[in-house]
Amino acid sequence: MDMIGSDSIAIIPTSSVYIRNRDVEFPFRPDSDFFYLTAYPEPEAVAVLIPDRADGEYILFCRDSDEEMETWHGRRAGLNGALEIYGADDAFPIEDMDDIVPGLIEGHDRIFYNMGHDQNFDHRVLGWVNQIRDKVRTGVVAPDEFISLNHFLHDMRLYKSRHEIKLMRQAAKISAGAHKRVMTYCKPGLHEYQLEAELVHEFMMHGAYAAAYPSIVGSGANGCILHYTENRDQIDEDDLLLIDAGSEYHGYASDITRTFPANGKFSTAQRQAYELVLKAQLAAIEQVQPGNHWNDPHDTAVRVLTEGMVELGILKGDIDELIKDQVYTKYFMHRTGHWIGMDVHDVGDYKVDNEWRMLEPGMVLTIEPGLYMPAGTKGLPKKWWNIGIRIEDDVLVTKNGYDVLSKDAPKTIDEIEALMKHAA
Ligand code: GLY
Ligand code: MN
Ligand code: MN
Repeated sequence: MDMIGSDSIAIIPTSSVYIRNRDVEFPFRPDSDFFYLTAYPEPEAVAVLIPDRADGEYILFCRDSDEEMETWHGRRAGLNGALEIYGADDAFPIEDMDDIVPGLIEGHDRIFYNMGHDQNFDHRVLGWVNQIRDKVRTGVVAPDEFISLNHFLHDMRLYKSRHEIKLMRQAAKISAGAHKRVMTYCKPGLHEYQLEAELVHEFMMHGAYAAAYPSIVGSGANGCILHYTENRDQIDEDDLLLIDAGSEYHGYASDITRTFPANGKFSTAQRQAYELVLKAQLAAIEQVQPGNHWNDPHDTAVRVLTEGMVELGILKGDIDELIKDQVYTKYFMHRTGHWIGMDVHDVGDYKVDNEWRMLEPGMVLTIEPGLYMPAGTKGLPKKWWNIGIRIEDDVLVTKNGYDVLSKDAPKTIDEIEALMKHAA
């Protein structure tokens, strides 16, 4: 509220409920901006922030208590809960917004509201403003500026507090446990969805009610599809498995990828490719230091991978040329990471004034280089076919360097083979 100033009002709705089919809804997940500010978990809610309003600066519009609705659909915090549990200064029934909000907007020059997210809500906001505009001849001030709250809010979300880091550490810990569980459980002949079930089991057994994104369980050729989520195939003896899965814990995501052989033992080609990706990942993680730039880990991963691919005969040519011409993107076609927080691909600018952003303590990012070599790729020797590898960790920037939040997930070949051997 200090940032937006007292001539402004901010309106932040939570997510809408979406229908899956007929009477069934998709599981509700609050909007991350809204949840960050309020921690209010129910649907049909809008936060209104009015700096310096004498009767309370934080107003929550939400569902009122309703005995019958609560019998059918579950408990509600109600208006009392909005005040007492969620710390709102004032709470009103969501149905009363159209009557109340124009009066709250009146007299403010600026509305902080993210246009273009939800068309229906955009229309309502414009309707409220037009109501006030119709009265300007009576002397009321109508706002003439709409500003997105992203600039302020997303920068706040980029720097994680101690409490947020605690939750992210727990999310990563649960997910690491899930990766271990799957490595222990996996054997050729199972189906990919059975491994997904093990992941979900571990998430939920530890109080993470949801995956932060649909789990990717790709065996063999499927490991070369970056966002494979069908998870329907049977796992073959010689397959590598690429599993990209992370839990969401109290609204915070984790995002971990591990790759391992279905039968518990890396073949020579699998081992060579894996060692290379791991080398690139470890070198990239070393670049996570305060004062380094966002792109430093990526540049490092690209160099290590390109050098390694030339060494292994996967690419041919001069290293600098291959990097300059981005020839490596034939096998490593995505970025080395992204911010992570309440959203798995979290908010926050990657560039500031056209320069890659400097890493600072409290930021959390993923480091996830990969190598994807589908069967039949022109010029690719057959021994590499269907080797798809990604190794992904969640890394916190600290005062002196970094802390890998997902370090409990086994990553070296020795660790993985030992765990899987033990399982067999
Ligand atoms: N799981 C999505 C990603 O790695 O970015
Ligand atoms: Mn990721
Ligand atoms: Mn991932």
